[in-house]
Amino acid sequence: MDGNGRWARQQNRLRFWGHKRGVERVRSSVEACIDMGVEALTLFAFSTENWKRPQEEVSFLMDLFMSSLKREVKRLHKNGIRLRIIGDRSRFPEKLQSAIAESEELTKNNRTLSLNIAANYGGRWDITEATRQLCVEVAAGRVDPEQITQEMVQQKITLSDLPEPELFIRTGGEKRVSNFLLWQMAYCEFYFSDLFWPEFDRSALEDAVSSFGGRQRRFGRTSEQLGGGIK
Ligand code: IPE
Ligand code: MG
Repeated sequence: MDGNGRWARQQNRLRFWGHKRGVERVRSSVEACIDMGVEALTLFAFSTENWKRPQEEVSFLMDLFMSSLKREVKRLHKNGIRLRIIGDRSRFPEKLQSAIAESEELTKNNRTLSLNIAANYGGRWDITEATRQLCVEVAAGRVDPEQITQEMVQQKITLSDLPEPELFIRTGGEKRVSNFLLWQMAYCEFYFSDLFWPEFDRSALEDAVSSFGGRQRRFGRTSEQLGGGIK
C-alpha cells in the first residue's frame, strides 16, 4: 500500500492525512475482495525498514494501527474475516500487542476471507525466522540437516497454511518488492499501478484482477504442455 504520503503532499496536506485516507482504502479493498471471492489478502502496512521514518510519523502510524484495529475488529468479525498480523510484533507497544492478540483470537475461526496485515514485517526476517526454527530442531537432534527439504522450510514460513499468493499489487508507481513476501512470491504474478494507495479504488482493484485473469501461468512448463496455445 504505497503512496499515502505523496498523495497527501500533492494536495498540500500533511502525510498523516494520507495515512488516514489509506485506512479507508483498506476497508473498501477488503469489501471488494470479499465480493470477488478472494480467499486471502495480505496488506503490507509497515516494514522492518519503516522505523527509520521521523519519530512523529512512526508514532502516528502506531496510534492509527491501534485505533483502526479497535474500531474495525467487530465489523471484520461480523463479515467472517479472519485477521492475522504477520511480522515481529515484539517491538510494538504492549497495548498494541494485546489488542492484536485479542483480535486474532476473536476472528480465528472465520473463513470468508483471511486478512493478513504485515506489520514490522520483512521477507528476509520471515526466512531468517524459519531458518532459526529449523536450527533449533537440528540442535535438539530432531532434524537431520541432510534431510531438510523445501517443504520443511515452507512450513516454517508465515502463512504456510494459506495457498501461495497469486497476485502481487504495488501502488504508488514504484516497481520493486521492498522485502515483502519473498519466499511466497516465487510464482506470483506482479501488477504495478501508478495510482497512489488512497486512489486505488474498487475499479482499480478489478482492473488488476482482470489483468491477472488474462495471464498464462506456466510454472516452468511450456504453453504447449498447458494446451493453451502460445500467449
Ligand atoms: C504507504 O504510504 C504507507 C506506509 C508505508 C506506512 P507511504 O507512507 O509509503 O507514502 P509515500 O510513499 O511517502 O507516498
Ligand atoms: Mg512509500
